[in-house]
Amino acid sequence: MPSIKAAILGFGTVGEGVYRILQEKREEIKKSTGFTVEVVSILVKDKTKKRMSIQDVQITDDFRDILNNPEIDVVFEAIVGDEPAYTYLSEAIEKSCHIITANKKMFAKHGPALMKHAEFRSVQVGFEATTAGGVPIIRTVTNLLAGDRVKRIQGILNGTSNFILTKMREEGSSFSQALADAQQKGFAEADPSDDVTGMDAFRKLMILSSLAFGQQPDWEGVPVVGIDHLQTIDLIDASKENLRYRHVADIWLDERGKLQGTVGPVLIGENHPLFSIDGVDNAIIVDTEYLGSLTLVGPGAGMYPTGSAMIADLMHIIRRHEAVLIPN
Ligand SMILES: NC(=O)c1ccc[n+]([C@@H]2O[C@H](COP(=O)([O-])OP(=O)(O)OC[C@H]3O[C@@H](n4cnc5c(N)ncnc54)[C@H](OP(=O)(O)O)[C@@H]3O)[C@@H](O)[C@H]2O)c1
Repeated sequence: MPSIKAAILGFGTVGEGVYRILQEKREEIKKSTGFTVEVVSILVKDKTKKRMSIQDVQITDDFRDILNNPEIDVVFEAIVGDEPAYTYLSEAIEKSCHIITANKKMFAKHGPALMKHAEFRSVQVGFEATTAGGVPIIRTVTNLLAGDRVKRIQGILNGTSNFILTKMREEGSSFSQALADAQQKGFAEADPSDDVTGMDAFRKLMILSSLAFGQQPDWEGVPVVGIDHLQTIDLIDASKENLRYRHVADIWLDERGKLQGTVGPVLIGENHPLFSIDGVDNAIIVDTEYLGSLTLVGPGAGMYPTGSAMIADLMHIIRRHEAVLIPN
């Protein structure tokens, strides 16, 4: 049985999710692709940290151990921030490895360069997990673009903000109470500033913009507003009028064909597809020339939804590149 050797960079929520799914679905993957997928190396920052038990896998804090292993075909990346993630993935591509990333902060900025580099090296880049976690928006837009044209994408791209707004409206919680609850339930980061200031949604919107329109607007020209200035009374008053605040990231081509984007709280009525999206879910509306309007809804984060998006990328890569994945 041919085998694919994989490395995982980062073994936190997402990296562990990838590893678990690869173990749990080993037989199914073998059956559907004809390949076994074997994790051979895992990169972490702190090797002394207590982790789940892992057999026969190198745990390293030195990326060169991975880079210098000629057997590795695919690198999953689930570390945090621009660097060293971008450098590691560039180096992996240079060694002709396929890459699959969940790192939205890095990919919003460096995704176009990585895609170009990967094309040059004839390898694939999977980035489904960077945007809306388990919602297959990247694959959907990619498929739509084959015979259609995207005109606009708008969505709730940050589950933490949506959870906080829902809690403030339904339970009358203050912003800080709702945020504390999101943190206690593990929805928000220890530092939630990117979530509540809109920066996380902005970065995902830029990734979608590159994909759907082949370009990003000037970052400085996109107004980004978070939910951190909203008061509970604003949400309750809106609710009495049958309106809801949603934190919406929006990108569209204007009538002159210029790309416009905004990120911020928007008041919407009950006929809007985002009206009923409560809690930590993400939802994305894609407007196209021929299909019309399509809405995708689902979990935007978490170990298994995000890990499974990365495994779906792997399946896609295996099917497209069966010929170049050299059986070991
Ligand atoms: N959590 C989600 O639901 C979710 C959803 C979509 C996308 N993402 C994205 O996925 C990525 C991972 O998120 P996460 O929630 O899994 O983060 P996490 O739980 O904080 O895990 C991060 C992992 O990266 C490792 N790491 C950090 N800096 C490193 C470095 N310089 N060199 C080597 N390893 C390093 C850490 O090592 P140690 O274990 O030794 O500290 C840890 O294992 C992020 O970019 C995030 O934005 C997350």
